[in-house]
Amino acid sequence: EKCKFIQVNSPEQGADQFYHLIKEELENDRLHVLGLATGSTMIPVYKKLTESALDFSNVTTFNLDEYVGLPASSPNSYAYFMKDNLFNKKTFKETNIPDGMASDLDTECARYEAALQNAKLDIQLLGVGENGHIAFNEPGTPADSATHVATLTESTLGVNSQYFENDEKIPETALTMGIASILSAKKLVLLAFGEKKRPALMKVLEGKVDKDWTITYLLQHDDVTIITDLDLK
Ligand code: GLP
Repeated sequence: EKCKFIQVNSPEQGADQFYHLIKEELENDRLHVLGLATGSTMIPVYKKLTESALDFSNVTTFNLDEYVGLPASSPNSYAYFMKDNLFNKKTFKETNIPDGMASDLDTECARYEAALQNAKLDIQLLGVGENGHIAFNEPGTPADSATHVATLTESTLGVNSQYFENDEKIPETALTMGIASILSAKKLVLLAFGEKKRPALMKVLEGKVDKDWTITYLLQHDDVTIITDLDLK
């Protein structure tokens, strides 16, 4: 089977599963470079990691994406989210997030992709958008995409704007790892909780790559674990 599904009863149990997976990889010296994700799905995951005794001081991280034009001081930026939920509480060797404030965004994307390929991701953690996007690879993103500037869809703007604080306007573009960047990781772990994620997971179960549901590109990878509270049978 291409994607391994693990069914849990709650997001907290899903976070426990991820914790055990990471713990084993750390103990076996197989985790040096970890790809991280943002979104509400990751809150219990990072809570579990910060409350644990796991030592990340030899681990370098790369985040999937960042909004264009939000400084790290904005509570709506992914840089802020990561500090708030993880980096302020656990020490890492080095952390990397694309710089959405860079004056030349294409140069920043190329720099980020080169750093990523040089480091080589051992594990990439993923969530999924309601329209099946991974990172900010919206419907139609090609399989060979590297880190790039993405234009967010109306659906993503609508869903993600509900989390925006202080009347700050949600950016319409973001820097994101591409599909090829994500698939370059040795191991992929996707977490999806709640009924709104069912259509995206059903697309994976259908077993066909569909560029309009970018989550289905995971079918092209041979080490994917999907942790969900949905009963998909
Ligand atoms: C954003 C992020 C994705 C994330 C998605 C789902 O679009 N770019 O990486 O998977 O949100 O977020 P949530 O976990 O809040 O459902």
